[in-house]
Amino acid sequence: MSGVGNPVESARQMAAAAQQQPTIWKHRHLLTLEDLTADEISLILDTAEAFSDVSKRSVKKVPALRGRVVANLFFEDSTRTRISFTLAAQRLSADVIDFTAKSSSVSKGETLRDTVRNIEAMGVDIIICRHGAAGATHLVAQNVSCSVINAGDGRHEHPTQGLLDIYTMRQNKGRVDGLKVAVVGDINNSRVARSNLHGLLKLGAEVTFVGPTTLVSRGFEKLGARVVHDFDSVIGEFDVINMLRVQRERISSNVFPSLQEYSRLFGLTNERLNRAKSDVLVMHPGPINRGVEMSGEVADGQRSVILDQVTNGLAVRMAVMFLCKQAGEADS
Ligand code: CP
Repeated sequence: MSGVGNPVESARQMAAAAQQQPTIWKHRHLLTLEDLTADEISLILDTAEAFSDVSKRSVKKVPALRGRVVANLFFEDSTRTRISFTLAAQRLSADVIDFTAKSSSVSKGETLRDTVRNIEAMGVDIIICRHGAAGATHLVAQNVSCSVINAGDGRHEHPTQGLLDIYTMRQNKGRVDGLKVAVVGDINNSRVARSNLHGLLKLGAEVTFVGPTTLVSRGFEKLGARVVHDFDSVIGEFDVINMLRVQRERISSNVFPSLQEYSRLFGLTNERLNRAKSDVLVMHPGPINRGVEMSGEVADGQRSVILDQVTNGLAVRMAVMFLCKQAGEADS
């Protein structure tokens, strides 16, 4: 029976393919892209490409994590990341448990450390954690022996979002090296911007952060980003435009006169997009504030790959869980 039709054989082939890569994955956790090498990021993208076939089959499952337990711990709301991790774990045949802080004993004062240690004590192999505090997932990793994957920690990083963004760029452009990528909007408050920056620079792309002075600090230049405050003066340069949501929940003061003013200067409309390269990719991590950072026509238009990003997230998360679990088992 061929590997395509036989999920057990396919999983063996994928495991063998991952092990044959010149870069051997050694990380039990994925907490940030800043700490990874270019080869390690490429290994995740290549492994995700192998896993992307699973989602195209009539039986969307391989036994790579059969008998393992994945716990989704979300201390902040989510639609895409949470469902994507759940489906990705199920496609690897893991059992999945869902934890939502709002309906848990966190409301009775239980600490993050106690919460994760109690959940691990039930036999969990991988913890997926989203938290409002930067560094919270590092704290979790320091207090458990299972694998921990960061699903977004405050303003710090959202590594699987960065990976799926880069995967989508590579899929559509055939390369990452040399791409000119704009990340536009509320950069100061964005964990997606930081993960994009670290991952893209390592793979040889040029990253420009665009937005008002109040939302894009010059300090990012020290990390390797170009900082521009006038979108219209540079829009024609880019191969990819990744638009970010204005994160009103993380903005404590008035950083622009009004949403209308923000939208007028930085919103991606068809009129503004007509001045971009004809083959530019339009991306957004979601959720979109239609009419603020992007018009509905652009979000649903021909240059948008926003739903491809969501689809690709599954394969990327399958790859990350698979690699981290393998490394954790090799370690212990
Ligand atoms: N992109 C992203 O993290 O979306 P969610 O907040 O819905 O998970």
